[in-house]
Amino acid sequence: MKLPDRHGQTASPDPRALPPPTAEEQAHSSKLQHLIREEIAACGGLISFARFMELALYAPGLGYYAAGKYKFGAAGDFVTAPEMGSLFARCLARPCQSILAQLGGGDILEAGAGSGALAADLLLELEALGRLPERYLILELSNDLRDRQAETLRHKVPRLLKRVHWLDSLPVELRGVILANELLDAIPVERFQIAEDGVRQLHVTWETDRFVWREKPANEAIRARIEPLALSPGYTSEINLQAEAWVRSVADILKQGVMLLVDYGFPRAEFYHSQRTDGTLMCHYHHRAHDDPLKLIGLQDITAHVDFTAIADAATGTSLSLLGYTSQAAFLIGCGLEPLMSASDPEDVRVHLGLTQQVKKLTSPHEMGELYKVIALGRGTREPFPGFAAHDRRGRL
Ligand SMILES: C[S@@+](CC[C@H](N)C(=O)[O-])C[C@H]1O[C@@H](n2cnc3c(N)ncnc32)[C@H](O)[C@@H]1O
Repeated sequence: MKLPDRHGQTASPDPRALPPPTAEEQAHSSKLQHLIREEIAACGGLISFARFMELALYAPGLGYYAAGKYKFGAAGDFVTAPEMGSLFARCLARPCQSILAQLGGGDILEAGAGSGALAADLLLELEALGRLPERYLILELSNDLRDRQAETLRHKVPRLLKRVHWLDSLPVELRGVILANELLDAIPVERFQIAEDGVRQLHVTWETDRFVWREKPANEAIRARIEPLALSPGYTSEINLQAEAWVRSVADILKQGVMLLVDYGFPRAEFYHSQRTDGTLMCHYHHRAHDDPLKLIGLQDITAHVDFTAIADAATGTSLSLLGYTSQAAFLIGCGLEPLMSASDPEDVRVHLGLTQQVKKLTSPHEMGELYKVIALGRGTREPFPGFAAHDRRGRL
């Protein structure tokens, strides 16, 4: 079962209907294909899908996120919440303010900061609320995006730039808030299929003139997690072991504070629902969604939904507490979306209309409101903070 994609686009089942890449894009893609083929050859003819996805998205200078392609917003391939306007960031500022106040200070670490829009708008709002973090740390895999983030921040908040630092690796420890919007869905997943004789792991090889799928018995880590689910033969889906490892390593450095992760996904029972027989893998290209990651190499985003039960287990396994889990709509309303909205002047039609459109996209159950979830995991914080008071869904994980 394929669902509408993360931005309400309709999946286009026939990839031939996608707009053709330009000659320049094709040349770029060929270079990346060559690199992947070399790695396949060096590995004896096959690489795991997770490795394929990693190269397609992050191969230095060539991968989708690592090269200069404009990904976010109307001119790109997809739109994320911070790209729609400042409302999402302004809401997120409330829990950040509350947590930093409880701790009497601290840092914010944003992982996977995209264009830098969230960082800039969040800093602006925290400045207005009188609760700037001591430092705003950014952990970003893509050098290209680091440059873009610096440009956004220089343009929008030049006076706050001195608080912003880009990290090459996780700090040894952190007190404050760790934030990531749509990061987990961009971490490479393994794809598996249930066969009569057990769990198969999908790999990628090159055949004649294109990449194709090959299956092999799944490795022990995948089998241990998938066999107990007792899925039927033919069932195909994903498991994101790297995202779980990422959460564990970030949880380890959080000495005191909260990790807030926003993404599209479900609790495990829904993720591996018997009717979701083909998983959640999706590709985004010029605002169209389809499900073939072996095409348009380096030119399209590849993403999978998040199993939030796995994320909660990974974090609580390192003794973080599960502080909240709810839909994006309930979270934003809990963060004061309505008062922020009503503070805008309806006479200023352009601004008011823009805000109304953001509210609709962010909270409508047919757009991002229901599919997107927010999870909060923390250590050493005493009081509740805005966002999770209503519609606490922790019991569903
Ligand atoms: C789908 S984009 C979301 C960007 C931004 N947060 C937004 O909402 O617009 C995913 C981002 O995560 C980054 N990323 C992926 N894996 C990462 C990792 N392990 N560490 C840091 N950044 C990562 C990508 O380069 C990209 O900036």
